Amino acid sequence: MAGEAGQWAAIAARRPTGFVALPPPLCSVRHGTRPRLGRCGCAARPPPLGRGRRARLAGTPVASTAAPATDGTSDDGDGSRADNASAADAGTSAAAPASGGPANVDWGALSFGWHPTPVHVVASHTRGGGWSPPTAVAGDPYIRLHVGATALQYGASCLEGLKARRRPDGAVVLFRPTAHADRFAASAARLAMPPVPTDVFLAAVKAAVVGNAAYVPPAGAPAALYLRPLLLGTGPRIGLAPADAYTLVVLATPVGEGGGGAGRLRTAGTTVVDGVTAVITDAYDRSAAGGLGGVKAGANYAADLLPATAAKAAGFPLNLYLDAATHTAVEEFGAANFVAVRRGRSVAEPDTYVTPESPSILRSITNDALAVLAAAAGMVVERRRVAVAEIEALDEVAAVGTGAGVTPVDRLVWGDRVLTVGSAAGRGGGGSGGGRLVALASQLAAIQQGEAPDVHGWCEVVDM
Ligand SMILES: Cc1ncc(COP(=O)(O)O)c(C=O)c1O
Repeated sequence: MAGEAGQWAAIAARRPTGFVALPPPLCSVRHGTRPRLGRCGCAARPPPLGRGRRARLAGTPVASTAAPATDGTSDDGDGSRADNASAADAGTSAAAPASGGPANVDWGALSFGWHPTPVHVVASHTRGGGWSPPTAVAGDPYIRLHVGATALQYGASCLEGLKARRRPDGAVVLFRPTAHADRFAASAARLAMPPVPTDVFLAAVKAAVVGNAAYVPPAGAPAALYLRPLLLGTGPRIGLAPADAYTLVVLATPVGEGGGGAGRLRTAGTTVVDGVTAVITDAYDRSAAGGLGGVKAGANYAADLLPATAAKAAGFPLNLYLDAATHTAVEEFGAANFVAVRRGRSVAEPDTYVTPESPSILRSITNDALAVLAAAAGMVVERRRVAVAEIEALDEVAAVGTGAGVTPVDRLVWGDRVLTVGSAAGRGGGGSGGGRLVALASQLAAIQQGEAPDVHGWCEVVDM
């Protein structure tokens, strides 16, 4: 492993001058003898119904048919723990439990990875035809795509990520789904794709929750049901142009809120939580101003795959990007915003919640919520340029997002230097997890889990 890690670290340390040898691509589209999805990207001739059962959404649970087990689970996130699917449900699609009760999942051992679930939801859009009603597909987690689909040819793809949690009163709630719908629409517009109307987005996401109800963790578990809406250009094009057909897919999978997740921090109260050491990615950029960085395009994650993989192989769970033009200002982590606290230097000076402002940063809904809580707690909120040179003068730093939760960061490795958060403030550094960000994360987690009043109206109940 050391050799492999060294190889990745070497790749990360330089700009590519030629082709980097990569493993052969895996085919993610399985063609059976019959199409498996109700509609392919070809608007002219929708294929017949597939093997997976489909159901128009009418508030009724969706029956499922398990697909043959060909794929296992995967840990897509921090890589710190293996996922916990049993041999029985390690296939492509899990069957819903016959009892209608919770699935047999070790909720405390989940990572941020794919765990099979029985249902995904699709809706399609054709030029002139608008959006079809969302439809649940059970027991068949594959979609059939035209080989010329613009998602394949030109990366016409954007995504969202939000969570459903079960409250102590049994209600299942989504966190700020309309904000996610708005951001999804902005991403689509930037990619010249038809924005998914809010009502279609909400219906599709809620149907994915209902169809996978057994995979919404019990109240209090350190886990959530993660919803991943995707918008794909599914019509064929060889010349570069928007497609005539698009598909919305919403998949769902239970994920852990471990690591530095807000749920974990809440149970730790405001005691010191060890922060992680991140690496500053200097050899690559995530996005330039005017690029795609401000939206949730699949291409942004493609750009991050190599640096993030190299960072993890070198032992860093997070990598931080700088502004593409000067490499002197903080942008964001690969899949999480950068937030910081600068404590007041006198009794009269309030603490400040600081987060970078830039057109190439994705506006995080978690960050936005934390900023609201920070302001309510009397902190000054600053959205501004944050110089790398300033990091050591900040008292706390964290990576925040739906997947990352609130992960305290104590140190950042930047080339030969180690930037220790708080060291220039005379605190000796370390202990990002012991301060105000942890307290804010605890507050947010309590709201998300139904243990504190939702005064901002952020949680939306799903009719199960
Ligand atoms: C690039 C990037 N930045 C920030 C975030 C955090 O955003 P949110 O809090 O809305 O999940 C994410 C995760 O979605 C992300 O992928």
